[in-house]
Amino acid sequence: MSPNFGDKALVQGYSGGMELTGKLAEAFSTQVTLELTAATVYRQLAVEMDVLSLPGIAGWFRAQAGEEIVHAEKFMTHMTDRSAHPKIGEQPAPTVNVNSVADAFAASLAHEQKVSEAIRELYRLAQTEGDIDSMPLLHWFIDEQVEEEATVGEILDRVRMIGNDGSGLLRLDAELGSRSSSS
Ligand code: FEO
Repeated sequence: MSPNFGDKALVQGYSGGMELTGKLAEAFSTQVTLELTAATVYRQLAVEMDVLSLPGIAGWFRAQAGEEIVHAEKFMTHMTDRSAHPKIGEQPAPTVNVNSVADAFAASLAHEQKVSEAIRELYRLAQTEGDIDSMPLLHWFIDEQVEEEATVGEILDRVRMIGNDGSGLLRLDAELGSRSSSS
């Protein structure tokens, strides 16, 4: 016998928890667009590394782009689970001015810092809207941003230490390349 979900659920789809307020739904959609924009920035950074003949670092940025898509999906799933309708907004072309590996990771860090602030802003809005149900998701993102900024910041420090040492750069390329080949 097939389960009976009730007429309303069959017509509208099941939604869990309290509904997102209009303000929050709009802010979540903006965040979805920002995560997708981050994916595009990372893809462009991957291209820049390919241009510099550093396939390992390029692969690392490509894997990072994939993570950003997962982030966007997380927000969209949370929205649809709560009867909100995610709308992907217009995305700016990536404006990365990269002549070196250090430039690429500095651009990455700057973008992550921007995303972190956007997540904090979402958290503040969720608090003022009294939206308890989005708190676990936003806590996950706060942790994720701390980790992403720390990872990128550490790589940037190492790139600066390496400077113009070609063999150091090739070692880093091999090390970061193992992320994309193992994931
Ligand atoms: Fe989804 Fe790297 O921020």
